[in-house]
Amino acid sequence: MADTTKKEGIANEIVPIPEILEDGMQHVNNPVLDLPRIEKQYLTAVKGYSQDRNVFYFTDGRAKVEVLVVSEEIIRVRLAPEGVFLADFSYAISNKPDEYVNYLLEESDTHYKVKTNAVTCFIQKDNFYISFGSAEEKVLNADFAAMHWEENVDFGGYYVYCTKEAQEDEVFFGLGDKATNLNLRGRRVRNWNSDTYSYAFNQDPLYKTIPFYIGVTQGDAYGIFFDNTFKTFFDFAAEHHDQTSFWSEGGELQYYYIHGPKMIDVVKRYHSITGTHYMPPLWGIGYHQCRWSYYPEKKVRDVATEFRNREIPCDALYLDIDYMDGYRCFTWNKRYFPDPKKMIADLAADGFKTVVMIDPGIKVDDQYWVFKQGKENNYFCRRGDDYFMEGFVWPGRCQFPDFTNPEVREWWGTLYKGLVDDGVAGFWNDMNEPAVFGRGTFPDDVRHQFDGHRGSHRKAHNIYGMQMVRATYEGLKKLYRNKRPFTITRAAYAGTQRYSSVWTGDNIATWEHLRIGTLQLQRLSVSGMSFCGTDIGGFTGEPDGELYTRWMQFGVFSPFMRVHSAGDTRDREPWSFGPEWEAICKKFIELRYKLLPYIYSVFWQQHKYGDPILRPIALLEQHIAKNLQREEEFAFGDHLLVSPVLHPGQASKIVYLPEGTWYYYFNNKVYVGSQEHTIDTPLDEMPFFVRGGAIIPEFPVMQYTGEQKIESLRLNYYFSADSCDSYVYSDHGDTFAYEQDVYIDKHFIAEGRNNGVSIRQGEQGLYTPNYSTFDLYLIGLPFTPSNIIVDGLKVESKKDTEGLSYVQLDRDFKKITIQ
Ligand code: GLC
Repeated sequence: MADTTKKEGIANEIVPIPEILEDGMQHVNNPVLDLPRIEKQYLTAVKGYSQDRNVFYFTDGRAKVEVLVVSEEIIRVRLAPEGVFLADFSYAISNKPDEYVNYLLEESDTHYKVKTNAVTCFIQKDNFYISFGSAEEKVLNADFAAMHWEENVDFGGYYVYCTKEAQEDEVFFGLGDKATNLNLRGRRVRNWNSDTYSYAFNQDPLYKTIPFYIGVTQGDAYGIFFDNTFKTFFDFAAEHHDQTSFWSEGGELQYYYIHGPKMIDVVKRYHSITGTHYMPPLWGIGYHQCRWSYYPEKKVRDVATEFRNREIPCDALYLDIDYMDGYRCFTWNKRYFPDPKKMIADLAADGFKTVVMIDPGIKVDDQYWVFKQGKENNYFCRRGDDYFMEGFVWPGRCQFPDFTNPEVREWWGTLYKGLVDDGVAGFWNDMNEPAVFGRGTFPDDVRHQFDGHRGSHRKAHNIYGMQMVRATYEGLKKLYRNKRPFTITRAAYAGTQRYSSVWTGDNIATWEHLRIGTLQLQRLSVSGMSFCGTDIGGFTGEPDGELYTRWMQFGVFSPFMRVHSAGDTRDREPWSFGPEWEAICKKFIELRYKLLPYIYSVFWQQHKYGDPILRPIALLEQHIAKNLQREEEFAFGDHLLVSPVLHPGQASKIVYLPEGTWYYYFNNKVYVGSQEHTIDTPLDEMPFFVRGGAIIPEFPVMQYTGEQKIESLRLNYYFSADSCDSYVYSDHGDTFAYEQDVYIDKHFIAEGRNNGVSIRQGEQGLYTPNYSTFDLYLIGLPFTPSNIIVDGLKVESKKDTEGLSYVQLDRDFKKITIQ
């Protein structure tokens, strides 16, 4: 009898529990944990081990634990309760373990130790507790209890659990798009991709599953990536102040310990196993204008014309679902768009790319070619009893491709051909949690091929959207040949960054949501999804001019910059709120275009080295306890620091500036770092600073990327009495030739002294940039230059049309000295 109660608890998918958190975090708990339940089983004492090169197996006689040395800094742990591991398959991981790592096993009376040059993994003999620390054996992360599990009587397999110690001072970051404070301490969150229209602060879960967190204690950081696609849960010292737990409703207990001790290195190493975003096409990081929906054709053309007439830069216009014929993907509504090819070509001639929406729900309609092909080839998902998975979405009754089947992904990729031939430049994948009207998502019994590792929807749910956009990306890569696709997805799992950018879904036009957006983008960035953005202005509801404009200002520093709004809202173009707001929006969109060469260089660092694009203060200065709680200011790349204005009528705000000197961008006033400053926030400015010592490349304002050829690239040097490295990257802007080293990454080392500055240049890559010279502007020099020597020759400075001095340099100069 008692058992039956337990089973009902397990079968109920969502069981709200009484609040355990004061702040009202709306979490729904794992029913399994909250009911009287079947005995959990724990690992007992270690009975022995075996080794196969970089893999160590430990056993308690029945269960087995695998410890795999992935790299010098990364160790993976897996648990097999009955001693049999599942197939080693992951959608998240893109790179194989490093074969050249040095590792060894040491044994003492109490422990086994698996050691690399950077990490020690301790396995305690008497209780099987596993902990991790530095090569010097300083422990950073330790089991509070041995790994444990519980049989799943309904589906087979196990619920699996891991409980770690939480230190008194420990703070936690990561977990993707959670709409909550940056520090997750005191929170319990779960991962189950959900269509959450108009979500609230603290609502959980949302659209994405990134089961990766970073812990920081005593100034040292480490990461845990729990690579499990089932519904997963994380409790960061919420239920017990001294414990952090993560668990899953199925699959394997498999996690990666990622060593720091610097937070930024944890993020980079996480990227080293899950991949980074490919270089986006340059136009993909310009300003994008979206709406649900721009139609008919005349409306689209009018919007385009307005942008050009008003001289507000814009690179892309989006067509939401109404461009389709009855919401059938890969078709056109010919009444609204009689000649899409011509329209897209005309827009392209005016510098606009066209991006269109594609959803996963395929209309059940025997006259519709996509449905017919899917049906004939058995590409649609089926229920446990073999019926098709059917549900209602925009087109009405739909079936859904099983994107976890490689053959289906291949097919899906080919479907884009018509739209690509029509000239569509980018694709937007939505509703891929997957979302189904009424019931939310698929029932658990839906079956998935899972690349040969078959499973139910419980296992495939969280990667469904990822595999959809993967199919999209891989198909487009073939269709565009060597050109880079542009893709955006709403649902994601860890590793989706290899295929797509992301946005934070259906937010609301409120000041609170502007703030939530700043938190979500910082969080996504440290969770491996740097190419992210919000619906600028808010998706539902109506912003006023001030909110819209402040959001646009934050948008300049969102890696993906797009205005979008729901179908029932008023106009949302930059001119929709009157001339006063339009002028400010224009100024800020222009700022985005000026900063593009810098932004593009930051994307290169993300692509090549895994540096997060947005960097919370905690990531910059993790050793200062107070900084671990700061969440309003953040860096964009190495050299820019911003603090968006998040309140109406705000005339000033307190901004913390990290170590160093900082120039306020709008007037070049210098501020000293490592302290807070009160900064005025007039409507047409926002707190935006440049690091002293930095060299920031700048484009002239263009109406769209590539509008003008750059003959001479402007470089702004911001004086500092320190040495500072800056990078300026360029390439074709739209091909994959950079993979064959056809790019140029210019490296500047600037060294300032009170009476002089020297800048040396080096470079990497084989590309010949368009510009042949640099125009170097010197900002904040504490002396008047009298002697400028470039590669041994004296040169004179020039004056630009505004009377400002600059030095023109050959793009290949080696060294300039200014005295
Ligand atoms: C979903 C998307 C939204 C889109 C709408 C219509 O709500 O999140 O961005 O505009 O569907 O396609």
